[in-house]
Amino acid sequence: MAQGHEIMTVNSYNGGQITGWGIALGNDLVTNHDLASRMDTSDEWIKERTGISERRIGGTTAGLAVQAAKDALEVAGCSPEEIDLLVLATTTPDDQIPATSAMVQHLLGLKCGAMDLNAACSGFVYSLVTGFGMLALGNRRILVIGSETLSRVTDWEDRSTAILFGDGAGAFVIEASSDQSALLGWELSCDGSLRDILHAEIGGTIVMSGQEVFRKAVIAMTESALTSIKNAGLTPEDIALVIPHQANIRIIESAMKRLHIPMEKSVSVLHKTGNTSSASIPLALVDAVEDGRIQEGDNLLLVGFGAGMTSASAIVKWGGST
Ligand code: ACO
Repeated sequence: MAQGHEIMTVNSYNGGQITGWGIALGNDLVTNHDLASRMDTSDEWIKERTGISERRIGGTTAGLAVQAAKDALEVAGCSPEEIDLLVLATTTPDDQIPATSAMVQHLLGLKCGAMDLNAACSGFVYSLVTGFGMLALGNRRILVIGSETLSRVTDWEDRSTAILFGDGAGAFVIEASSDQSALLGWELSCDGSLRDILHAEIGGTIVMSGQEVFRKAVIAMTESALTSIKNAGLTPEDIALVIPHQANIRIIESAMKRLHIPMEKSVSVLHKTGNTSSASIPLALVDAVEDGRIQEGDNLLLVGFGAGMTSASAIVKWGGST
């Protein structure tokens, strides 16, 4: 996995804080038992190999994004007109043209620029880092969303992939602030030579070499996380909570072990969401906020990997009110 460039610390730029958050999940519940009644699999196999018990599917990428964003705007206490930019991470756009973010911009009544960002399951962290970069360039409030309808690109006859995916969205408002930036360090990587191990052609469904993705994912997550921690001037002991991409509980366990961070310091929601690609880190982060697992001043490690293959991580000092 190609490593990102060494970066100067972002603290010298304009600061930014997370001030709002919201989530949405597909309406329809699909349990492992539902899948086992349709294909040659079992609840035990899926739980043991992935950690997933159920997932929610349905809706559109724009619709889920709007639902999550409305809550995020309310928590942040800001109106749609006050948002300066929308960055929407998705690998499952509703249309080829225009960008899904354009529809979300319209439905929310935003008056700002809007763009889609596709870095597969790393998309939310890519978008969050992009958002903080735009705060440094003078934007005051940015809406960062990860929204996916993976059920539309899933082959429901293929037991090796159909068990994995779900639909959902998570939205965050980030605001410029004169305090120290919440983003302490970050790392974005991509190795485009690995396209064939995880891809979907236009109009097609996801094709994946599961074991190979698994192996590469553990290494990519660990390397990315260690680079971000170093860029932030921290050590793994300084991390209060890890919010990893929710693909497979065994991937999370392996990465946590390599990082020498105890598993109790990780957040997992995949038992009830499945893999929701760029929505998965925001879904897990909001779950931890609502569970009271995050205190002001905590150093959070957000880390993901995805098709590309991409990987991305960010160290966020939590300043939002819980
Ligand atoms: N139920 C029962 N048996 C199954 C199932 C199933 N759903 N799926 C596969 N099997 C069988 C296989 O056929 C194989 O049988 P065999 O030994 O007789 O050949 C056996 O189980 C083992 O298969 P493996 O593929 O080796 O199983 P593994 O332990 O690797 O688990 C899994 C498969 C869950 C897919 C795992 O490899 C994984 O999670 N990989 C990473 C996936 C991932 O993170 N993808 C990211 C996608 S994100 C994005 O970009 C959208």
